[in-house]
Amino acid sequence: MSAPMLEIVGLTKTFPVRDGLGRSAGAVRAVDNVTFSIPRGQVYGLAGESGSGKSTIARMIMGLTPPTAGDILLDGENITGRTGTRAYGRKVQMVFQNPGSSLNPRRTVAQSIAVPLDAHGHPRRERAGRIAELLDMVQLPADFAERYPHELSGGQKQRVAIARALAVAPKLLVLDEPTSALDVSVQARVIDLLVDLGRQLDLTFLFISHDLSLMRNFAQQVGVLYLGQIVETGPTAEVFTDPQHDYTRLLLASVPVISAEEEAMRPKIPLIDGEIPTAEKLLALRQAAKP
Ligand SMILES: Nc1ncnc2c1ncn2[C@@H]1O[C@H](COP(=O)(O)OP(=O)(O)O)[C@@H](O)[C@H]1O
Ligand SMILES: [Mg+2]
Repeated sequence: MSAPMLEIVGLTKTFPVRDGLGRSAGAVRAVDNVTFSIPRGQVYGLAGESGSGKSTIARMIMGLTPPTAGDILLDGENITGRTGTRAYGRKVQMVFQNPGSSLNPRRTVAQSIAVPLDAHGHPRRERAGRIAELLDMVQLPADFAERYPHELSGGQKQRVAIARALAVAPKLLVLDEPTSALDVSVQARVIDLLVDLGRQLDLTFLFISHDLSLMRNFAQQVGVLYLGQIVETGPTAEVFTDPQHDYTRLLLASVPVISAEEEAMRPKIPLIDGEIPTAEKLLALRQAAKP
């Protein structure tokens, strides 16, 4: 048995909360004792609405913010506290939600993709060849290398961001709402591309989205995050057909239905009592209740 590509154990992040005058007013548990693992070559879908803690989990995995508690293991190795290092950066890369702001407007596509290549000491004379190869992988024409972000559509920019993330041949890709800024038809094509790349390159994905429906044909396992906690997790098909938690049902109820067949598969279980407050509302209530 090989170790999972990514294993997260009891990951927790609290942020200090300040009142209107900047005085300390307690703490908010943005991520609360989160545990899950992703076997090599698989896709784990992390769903939850805005404010549920998804990006904070991604940022801790990427070493962009230190965890308050918990462990992060990559390929069996505990890398908590070392996630910002170069050796780690080679294995784990991230694609952000908004390709418009994650690509430097003054850099050509080739210059953007060259950044991680240079940072990881990729030989300069092999650079142009590698960039052409990466553009081909994300199904963009070779002459896009000389274009600037403003000359690209949203979907094309996100393909460039994916090419840049793949430049140093990572093992794990963390995708934080990679398609949320895109039209539905473009979203589907980017997901198809990710599925293909995952197979070709034996990649492992952590796919984060507020949209559970995107995970149906992509993720083997899903986790539903609510107020910083995983309230439900399991094989995607099981969670879709037999959700155990009200909040999962709520997320599934808002999944758009495409065909009569899918309508038939949709869970008919009603919510227990009415409206479920949003994560942000509940966090505000929790904070207000603190002495
Ligand atoms: N740097 C920060 N300082 C204080 N609170 C933060 C910070 N980053 C995130 N939060 C809070 O943590 C919670 C989770 O945020 P986030 O991880 O961005 O959620 P999501 O990505 O699911 O929308 C939110 O209540 C947010 O306001
Ligand atoms: Mg987010």
